[in-house]
Amino acid sequence: MCPMLNSRLDIHRWCRNFPGTKAQISEARRFVASYLGDRPETYTAEVVISELATNAIRHTHSGQAAGRFGVTLHAGTTLLILAVHDEGGPSTPRLCQAENTDQSGRGLHLVESLTTRWGVHGDESGRTVWALIPLGRTA
Ligand SMILES: Nc1ncnc2c1ncn2[C@@H]1O[C@H](COP(=O)(O)OP(=O)(O)OP(=O)(O)O)[C@@H](O)[C@H]1O
Ligand SMILES: [Mg+2]
Repeated sequence: MCPMLNSRLDIHRWCRNFPGTKAQISEARRFVASYLGDRPETYTAEVVISELATNAIRHTHSGQAAGRFGVTLHAGTTLLILAVHDEGGPSTPRLCQAENTDQSGRGLHLVESLTTRWGVHGDESGRTVWALIPLGRTA
């Protein structure tokens, strides 16, 4: 865990690595919720991190023996960026065609509907999938 304050931009950053097992998806969710606390965006952030962490485990080398994935939160006063770092693989994160999403292919559509933007960087040796959620002012 690495709490960090960028005082010029007023952005806080927290990151943590997790073993690449299904049980760690709820740990990643708790990690995010513990920093956001009881604010309206927390549930959305938990859903988004669940989808991205699940993808890391299911679609990348992070889900293989001894694999790991990382979660980073960048929280400013008006926005939150969630990022999941994986260990790569041959496929690329992409929105599936709507007609093929009966059983699967819904996760990134959900991320797209809940966030302002999402994106990917990296390559088959490791990718980061990130998503941006606006933050309202807390009381
Ligand atoms: N981190 C990732 N690395 C590589 N490929 C990915 C990653 N995340 C998603 N993908 C690819 O993008 C596709 C769409 O992802 P999405 O989460 O929408 O659907 P899914 O994981 O297949 O199914 P669901 O999320 O509905 O259970 C995946 O099938 C996979 O091919
Ligand atoms: Mg998915």
